[in-house]
Amino acid sequence: MEAPMAAPVQTEMWKARSLAELIRILHRLFSEDKVSVEEVQALMESYESNPEEWLQYAKFDQYRYTRNLVDSGNGKFNLMILCWGEGHGSSIHDHTDSHCFMKILQGNLKETLFDWPEKKGNGEMTKKSERVLRENQCAYINDSIGLHRVENISHTESAVSLHLYSPPFDSCNTFDQRTGHKHKVKMTFYSKFGERTLCATAVPQENN
Ligand SMILES: [Fe+2]
Repeated sequence: MEAPMAAPVQTEMWKARSLAELIRILHRLFSEDKVSVEEVQALMESYESNPEEWLQYAKFDQYRYTRNLVDSGNGKFNLMILCWGEGHGSSIHDHTDSHCFMKILQGNLKETLFDWPEKKGNGEMTKKSERVLRENQCAYINDSIGLHRVENISHTESAVSLHLYSPPFDSCNTFDQRTGHKHKVKMTFYSKFGERTLCATAVPQENN
């Protein structure tokens, strides 16, 4: 007698056919007690970037990259679009014990990973690896993986990325590459839900 075939492992594979659908599925996933990093990453990667769907959120600044809130995830996550002009980049930063997903919507971004500096250290931070993320790719990082810097190294093309942070946070630490010294920074939004935020101050924003 033939042995019955093992039932295939049922991993739910989502495909987000639009930004709106991506947000709907994210709400569903994050309403559960446990969320799988792989599942969220695969879902975000499955969305094929369509500028018509996100252009309303993509507000650029001449001098530095911007953070634009798209959805506040029912308190469970923040979804935002970051707009990177030519040569714009972040500091080296941590992620405040949250999960961080970063999907490229347009252009390329270079991600450089660093080890956490030694507690008593006072020297150049150790670069672990670097890679270039391309359109539709989705990267993931958290504090146990390390720290990173994100840059649009192109001098001719801007870049746009979609970030999900869970749980949401509004401050993180940035690190000086030469000394490893950190300082806490508060992060702000350049726009929320497609509307430019008022009183955007000169306080430095940080990517996370
Ligand atoms: Fe980050």
